[in-house]
Amino acid sequence: MPPSCLRIGLIGLGIVGSEVATRLLQHREAYRRRTGVDLVLERVLVRDPVRPRRVALPAGMLTARPEDLLDDPQLEVVVEVAGGEEPARTYMERAIRSGKHVVTANKVVMARHGPALLELAGRANVDLYFEAAVGGGIPLISTFKVDLLANQIERVVAVINGTTNFVLGRMADAGLGLDAALAEARAAGYAEADPSEDVDGWDAAAKLAIMASVAFLARVHPDCVYREGIRGVDPIDFRYARELGYEVKLLALAARRDDSLEARVHPVLVPHGHPLASVQGARNAVYVEGDLVGQVLLQGEGAGGRPTASSVVGDLLDLAASVRRRVEVRSAPRFDDELTVLPMDEVRTRAYFRCRVVDGPGVLAAIFSIFGEEGVSIASAIQKESDGRWAEFVVTTHPASDAALRRTRERVSRLQVVHSVGSFLRVL
Ligand SMILES: NC(=O)c1ccc[n+]([C@@H]2O[C@H](COP(=O)([O-])OP(=O)(O)OC[C@H]3O[C@@H](n4cnc5c(N)ncnc54)[C@H](OP(=O)(O)O)[C@@H]3O)[C@@H](O)[C@H]2O)c1
Repeated sequence: MPPSCLRIGLIGLGIVGSEVATRLLQHREAYRRRTGVDLVLERVLVRDPVRPRRVALPAGMLTARPEDLLDDPQLEVVVEVAGGEEPARTYMERAIRSGKHVVTANKVVMARHGPALLELAGRANVDLYFEAAVGGGIPLISTFKVDLLANQIERVVAVINGTTNFVLGRMADAGLGLDAALAEARAAGYAEADPSEDVDGWDAAAKLAIMASVAFLARVHPDCVYREGIRGVDPIDFRYARELGYEVKLLALAARRDDSLEARVHPVLVPHGHPLASVQGARNAVYVEGDLVGQVLLQGEGAGGRPTASSVVGDLLDLAASVRRRVEVRSAPRFDDELTVLPMDEVRTRAYFRCRVVDGPGVLAAIFSIFGEEGVSIASAIQKESDGRWAEFVVTTHPASDAALRRTRERVSRLQVVHSVGSFLRVL
């Protein structure tokens, strides 16, 4: 059989696009031998085609005209690694409608429009791959789509934002405040000038929406994901957490609860001994529980040009294999429209409260009576430090509804004998 050919248009030649282009150009022959398909990089779309590039492309390959890719009937696949919601989403839709396969690393588009684009691709009989949109080089999407397909997935718990994991690690290990830890993250190339996407949990919520959509075959929009960032974590909490046997992590959690789903991103006290407690630096890790497989842990580099290119080119090679097999029918996933996200109020979780209270008799009784009235049962209560007038007091609870836990926090903080509830964190 003569080798088939897959002609590729690449949108974006930045951190990820440069690595993808380099790999395709340098490994063309090896990939042709491996798959029996010639992966040919034909055109590359950028904003500024005269700017010097890190990768040397054959003359005439660069363009700033989207139609050079999107309206070229010779191109069979468009690789979108430009980023942002628009015009990336429109380009992907146009490519799909004109019968081109799409490979993307774009978490914003896939989180907000993934199910609709996947259904469109199914109707157009083309493939839409997005392994690189979550977890950089970690094979997550293909793991859910292929290797864990036999399972009912029960739970996905992830350290999925490298920037905040690095920052929380530095706060825990070096006693830094948030701003100092962020400055270190910036110097190490892990944080943007404006870190709010990471610090406020937006990035993790988008990635969780994508993972939950694939793992549970539900339409989980990022706006449905409950989200709290790491701004409320105080350096003292890391010390107390460690004394109690926990690490503080920003977790993305999705879980099946009867006919609904939990989907939430917030800081969590993770017990020492849990695999996610020891995820260091900017690495990512995803812990999955399936009814057949049990527990699975996937971890690795969650960002960076080369790990992300590994996922993008991996998707292209999988597409090449399907071209080689002459796959004729490509269907969309069937989403379960009954499976909706549970309001955070109804989620049951454990919590950690740190309160500053008057150091005197009767204070704890007043606090505990509120816990009792709200039906929140106390697992541990420890007085930490006292300056004679105020005492620091840490409580952990047994599982209760998040609404009851937050009402408890609110009512305790209004007590005259309470200076403040300094921290309120959930416990895994
Ligand atoms: N970097 C990572 O570690 C990483 C990890 C996982 C996923 N991703 C995702 O991968 C994608 C690319 O990220 P990146 O870090 O490679 O971005 P980047 O370095 O900023 O590069 C973006 C590229 O896209 C081009 N571009 C942007 N808007 C365009 C438009 N409207 N029309 C044509 N070209 C356009 C830019 O052109 P010019 O060069 O002319 O400006 C540039 O070449 C994003 O979706 C990102 O979320 C990145």
